[in-house]
Amino acid sequence: MEFTAKNLRINISNGIITDIQPGDSDSSLYISPRFIDLHCHLREPGGENKETLKSGIESAFYGGYGTIFTMPNTNPVCDNPDTLNYILSNSKNQYSIIVKPICAITSGLSSENITDFAGLKKLGACGFSNDGKPIENMEVLKKVLIKAKQSDVFLVSHAENTSYPPQDSHSEWTAVKREIDIVRETGGKLHFAHISTKESIELIRQAKQEGLHITAETAPHYFTFSREDITSDDGRFKMNPPLRSPEDVEAVKAGLKDGTIDIIATDHAPHTRGEKLLDYDIAPPGITGFETAFSLAFTNLVRTDYLTMEELIDKFVYNPAKIAGVKFHSIEKGGIAEFNIIDLNKKYTVLGTKFKTKCKITPYEGIELAGKVISVVVGNKVYNLENGETEWV
Ligand code: DOR
Repeated sequence: MEFTAKNLRINISNGIITDIQPGDSDSSLYISPRFIDLHCHLREPGGENKETLKSGIESAFYGGYGTIFTMPNTNPVCDNPDTLNYILSNSKNQYSIIVKPICAITSGLSSENITDFAGLKKLGACGFSNDGKPIENMEVLKKVLIKAKQSDVFLVSHAENTSYPPQDSHSEWTAVKREIDIVRETGGKLHFAHISTKESIELIRQAKQEGLHITAETAPHYFTFSREDITSDDGRFKMNPPLRSPEDVEAVKAGLKDGTIDIIATDHAPHTRGEKLLDYDIAPPGITGFETAFSLAFTNLVRTDYLTMEELIDKFVYNPAKIAGVKFHSIEKGGIAEFNIIDLNKKYTVLGTKFKTKCKITPYEGIELAGKVISVVVGNKVYNLENGETEWV
């Protein structure tokens, strides 16, 4: 079977790519490797009313993801072999998605007891993070960076200085600053999650120029909305870090453009309908991300000429793979056919009720987006995401 898109023309037979040719510039389709998300919350075990491994994986599949890294703030926390094994074994063989669990840096996300990086890595941990909660004791962070370097693990920072309210930009950038100092001191390596402020971006830009081993991510909400879009007391718009100023939104876009921000992660963080319909002050932070991430990025970054399509795919596939050290199915002759087919001309209105995630409440409700993953090819199967049908080729 032949697939023709703007960038590539691919022939597959028995699930193997038999030929790759240049595409047809008139096509509105684009073929990409399946996306890699370095940051999501699937809630199981312990939060199955918000999301299960199954519903989260289905949601990721419909967003075009093939590999997803799950954060450890489950209940129990993923800081031990049993919980890690539970996540690994209950997420297997669903939609050909590879789930890569990130384990906690400290036990219970709260104590100062650093987990067994080498042991958990051997059992399948694909990184370490206390996402959701910062490490604010810099002596502990110093030990963490040294230990991570010894065990060569992917380390993700939730940089937050809780002596400031979250709404104050200082809560993010003063934490980024002190953590960069520890990276410099230890020669360690650190990936900053969900970066949202102009000051943090400038600090990361300088740290990279200095040659420190630092990488950074943002999430679609930080280049889509500013705090000025929160026009009523509305818990749907609550996430941590919170939405920032319009200048911060511009800085996030500039950081993506010049490479200061390496990747776009979803920070898919579902909660129940009841929780997200609460007033802003009392709603839990977190919004769903898998099923809107690509379209938000394409609409807000590519159609507005901030990024080329190739640069966008770097942020969704190649840079995440490099940062977390993962292999993925690249598109090559003789390889297994595994790729997304994206319709760049497709326009649609976001309707939470159509989401596969359990959390159908979204701040994007009713907004019009362009560009959508419409099919996913995995081996000899073509999944049509529009009508849910599977074709064998
Ligand atoms: O908005 C957020 N939600 N930010 C976090 O850091 C944690 C996450 C969650 O687990 O709900």
